[in-house]
Amino acid sequence: MKKVDFPIDKRKWHPGLIPGLIVLVSTYSKESIPNIAPISWIQMVSFKPPVLMFSGSRGSRTVNNILETNCFCVNTVDSKMVTKVFNCIKWFGQERIKKCGFNLSDAELIKAPLVDESRAHLKCTLYDTKEVGRAVIVFGEIKAASIWEEIALADTISAYKKLDQVLYMEDGIYALFDRLHRIE
Ligand SMILES: Cc1cc2nc3c(=O)[nH]c(=O)nc-3n(C[C@H](O)[C@H](O)[C@H](O)COP(=O)(O)O)c2cc1C
Repeated sequence: MKKVDFPIDKRKWHPGLIPGLIVLVSTYSKESIPNIAPISWIQMVSFKPPVLMFSGSRGSRTVNNILETNCFCVNTVDSKMVTKVFNCIKWFGQERIKKCGFNLSDAELIKAPLVDESRAHLKCTLYDTKEVGRAVIVFGEIKAASIWEEIALADTISAYKKLDQVLYMEDGIYALFDRLHRIE
C-alpha cells in the first residue's frame, strides 16, 4: 500500500494514532476545595514501585493541587459518564463538578476526593514531576486501589465489559472496548 506524509501535530491526526484511556483525575487544593479534570494522556510506568504517569498542563488546577497536596486519585470513566466528561471542560472548579452531577467522597489514606460514580479508583501520592514544553508529567505512586466487587468477581472477558472504559480517539470521538479477544 502506498504511504503518504502525515502531520506531526497530534491535533491534526485523523485518525488519531495514539488513543488514550479517558479518566477523571480528582484532587483537593490545600484549602480542601475539590477538583476533577478529564485526562487521556495516562500510562503505567513501573510495576515496582507501582507508578503511573499522566500529562497535565502547567498552571492547571489539577497540577497545582497535586503540587500542594502531593495526592491525586485516578477515577475510571465508563460509557454512561463519557459525554459529561467530554463536555465538562466548559466549566471550571466547583461549577464543573456541579454541572457534571458527579458525587465526590474522601479517599482513605490520601488527601484527594473520589468520584463515586466511577467503577474503579487508583489512589496515588506524588512520586515526581517532569516539565515538557507546557506540559507537566505527573508521576504518581499507587498506594491503594478499589473496584466494584461485581467486576473483581467477574471472569476476565466479562470484567472488561463491566468496567466499560472509554478511549479518546480525537476531539469529540471516543471508542469502547466492546470487542475483546484472547490470543490463540
Ligand atoms: C476527553 C478529554 C481528555 C483530556 N486529556 C487531557 C490530558 O491528557 N492532558 C491535559 O493536560 N489535558 C487534557 N484534557 C483537557 C483538560 O481536561 C482541561 O484542560 C481541563 O480544563 C483541566 O482542568 P483543571 O484546570 O481543573 O485541571 C482533556 C480533556 C478532555 C475532554
